[in-house]
Amino acid sequence: MTNYEEAYEKLKQFGQLHVLNYYEQLTADQQEELLAQVMATDFSMLSFASKEGEQAAQRGKIEPLAAMELDEIARRREEFTRIGLDAIRAGKVGAVLLAGGMGTRLGSDDPKGMYDIGLTRPVYIFERIIRNTLDVVEQSGAWIPFFIMTSDKNHEATTTFFQEHDFFGYREEYVFFFRQEMAPASDYDGKVYMEEKGKISTSPNGNGGWFVSMEKSGVGDKMRRLGVEWLNVFAVDNVLQRIADPCFVGAVIAENRASGSKVVRKAAPDEKVGVMCLEDGRPSIVEYYELTEELMEARDKKGQPAYQFGAILNYLFRVRDLEEIVNNSLPLHVVEKKIPHLDENGVLIRPEAPNGYKYEQLVLDMIHELESCLPYEVVREKEFAPIKNRTGIDSVESARKLLAGNGVVL
Ligand code: UTP
Repeated sequence: MTNYEEAYEKLKQFGQLHVLNYYEQLTADQQEELLAQVMATDFSMLSFASKEGEQAAQRGKIEPLAAMELDEIARRREEFTRIGLDAIRAGKVGAVLLAGGMGTRLGSDDPKGMYDIGLTRPVYIFERIIRNTLDVVEQSGAWIPFFIMTSDKNHEATTTFFQEHDFFGYREEYVFFFRQEMAPASDYDGKVYMEEKGKISTSPNGNGGWFVSMEKSGVGDKMRRLGVEWLNVFAVDNVLQRIADPCFVGAVIAENRASGSKVVRKAAPDEKVGVMCLEDGRPSIVEYYELTEELMEARDKKGQPAYQFGAILNYLFRVRDLEEIVNNSLPLHVVEKKIPHLDENGVLIRPEAPNGYKYEQLVLDMIHELESCLPYEVVREKEFAPIKNRTGIDSVESARKLLAGNGVVL
């Protein structure tokens, strides 16, 4: 069979023959690239192209998972910090910045980390993240291996930006980039969009594949050679978060858990943040819309709401446990997004409103694969300033206020 026939058969099987609509108009090289892309693409996920597809996923038995709260952390701060700093100094702690996302809500074409949130001087999101990490480098006197996940869409821009800014004072030899995998993007009927006449529209496959991508890229081997045993994984957009926080690291080690998750007390019962729980006896995160009235009203031993600690996407994972679950498949999330694509006349459209689905795996689902997790409470105003939008909730504006409240001059 020729490459063409093989690709044709595959597309036919998945109902995606429109991918070849412009085939005759392509150069020989473009034709070859398109056929290679078809062969490399996993179209099976497109059968989940509906919101129901995702929500049908059955939840197990939900029970409370106690968080380590601020008062206990304050009491044991010295002990935890000592344990955490020892681990950092021994080179056992690495940081993983998840920066493969598209940041569509922020509406900039550049990687989100390149966004300048300064008022009187340039202050880039990446710069804040590095500055926060340097605080611990200075405190511990040790460089923390710093891994950055990018995607095909933003890799060049991200690496060039770091180079142009001398890694914002971080030591280059401790910075390791790796790329995440891509997934096709489709319309509401599960038909893939085309981003060029010879290219299926793809987008990063969510932040859940970070460890698999790290391993595939070979960066995982480097990480092991450095002796890293714990990885602190975090989102690019929380400009206040503490990274490789010695007290958090020490608490998870002292409690002998496979993972830890920084959490904040929910501001309101309907705040859109997933809360920590046990699901069928394993740690898990349940979304706010999945909380039944009964769960909302449940109380813990102290008489406070039993499901009120929201995860802020700052996790600590024990590497040996990740290695055991690396082949487990995570649930697929079908997310409505704006997807640029060619219309039937071959003209590129940049939609103003969501027009289809992207298919993602999420890091929060990794928590459920692991034996244990320590939810670790932090003070929202000190450690949680996510930038998702330009204005309003979780925005550049709200983050600026929070940074100012913490003495950061912008
Ligand atoms: P978000 O869920 O906020 O997604 O990512 P996003 O793509 O950045 O932004 P929107 O939804 O398009 O506006 C949370 C974190 O996960 C990373 C992001 O870079 C961010 O740090 N992420 C997300 C990835 O690394 N890869 C992905 O495929 C998706």
